[in-house]
Amino acid sequence: MGLVVVSDRSPEFIGHLETLLEREEDLTVASAASAPAAVDLAVRENACVVVFGPSVKIDVALAAGEELTSRPTPIGAVLVAPKVTPELLRMAMRAGFRDVVASEGTTYGDVGAAIRDAHDIAARSRAAGGQAAHPETPTAPRESRIVTVFGNKGGVGKTVVATNMGVALAKDFKKDVVLVDLDLESGDAAIMLKLEPKRTIFDAAQAIERLDAAMLKNILVEHSSGLKVLLAPRRSEDAESVTTARISRIIGLLSEMFDVVIIDTAGRFDEAVLTAIDRSDEVLAVATMEVPSIKNTKVSLEKLEQLGYRDGGVRLVLNRADSKVFIEPGEVEKAIGGKISARIPSDRAVPRSVNKGVPVVLDAPKSAVARSLVELARTIVETG
Ligand SMILES: Nc1ncnc2c1ncn2[C@@H]1O[C@H](COP(=O)(O)OP(=O)(O)OP(=O)(O)O)[C@@H](O)[C@H]1O
Ligand SMILES: [Mg+2]
Repeated sequence: MGLVVVSDRSPEFIGHLETLLEREEDLTVASAASAPAAVDLAVRENACVVVFGPSVKIDVALAAGEELTSRPTPIGAVLVAPKVTPELLRMAMRAGFRDVVASEGTTYGDVGAAIRDAHDIAARSRAAGGQAAHPETPTAPRESRIVTVFGNKGGVGKTVVATNMGVALAKDFKKDVVLVDLDLESGDAAIMLKLEPKRTIFDAAQAIERLDAAMLKNILVEHSSGLKVLLAPRRSEDAESVTTARISRIIGLLSEMFDVVIIDTAGRFDEAVLTAIDRSDEVLAVATMEVPSIKNTKVSLEKLEQLGYRDGGVRLVLNRADSKVFIEPGEVEKAIGGKISARIPSDRAVPRSVNKGVPVVLDAPKSAVARSLVELARTIVETG
């Protein structure tokens, strides 16, 4: 039986959570009037999760959360804040929080999903002897590798890289691999892979409280290569209900089901992308040799560094690397301040394959561009 400690001044908030968690047979709830009291109670009673409610001051909650998540046997921390900004998300992630959920407009389903997620992670960590604040990577039942394909700009080739890598991993390296289209408002993995979005991440998000591996498996769409895909919502307005807490839980479940989870993202630092990055073992930053892309990549690498992702965690992928654009790859490295770890040549075979809905690794497997994408996939397997 897992204990969830709730810290908030509002009896109404505590009441909501009690009602919410009544249905969860393996969880009990206790409340504490202040954040330090919640920490004391959680430690004394060996709680799994502490939830800091919207009335707790942010800096107090962050300090208390850090104390909990850095213990030898970590206690999961969830923050429910009036407003979730990328800045708050970043600070909370640094403090080891599993999730930050906005209290405004919440249906409490998100809070429930966040608690369940934090509880499951803490329970797994304990079963494995405890230690890490982010224990699912080393202690997940499966040695899965989570890779986010990121580029702080549209049209640089993120989806081309993500879909082709996914297909190559499934077909050439015989991996159980899932691609998540986290470009929630305008994802086009379905088009590039010619898949019908019968079910999408929206369905997974709607069913979050009941979602388990079996249900999630049914929501995935399978490509002929064997790659499974969690597609983006059909309607852009549905993206709103795919909140960070839900994304986090979905990625957690997928990492238990697959060898590799590849996440394609929108070309900006939004909350969904930050959540994916936080969960990832590796970030592939895709850039092209155009000045705006180089500039944006430099800015994103700096941001990623602030988030603690640099050494080994981020690799630079230069797409359309041989374009006749009067910039040398060496100059790109100098401007960005990082080493290029993969180069994907520019080839007309790519737009052709995109238009056909057949990834270039299948459509023109002998081309240099296809071979470089297969090699990029190999590096994922070899580091994994
Ligand atoms: N190596 C390449 N050679 C030639 N064309 C390419 C190459 N990579 C990508 N392209 C072209 O660039 C277009 C944009 O690529 P893609 O959709 O993968 O970018 P993206 O970063 O995912 O964009 P968005 O942020 O809009 O989702 C593709 O339609 C493709 O035709
Ligand atoms: Mg894309």
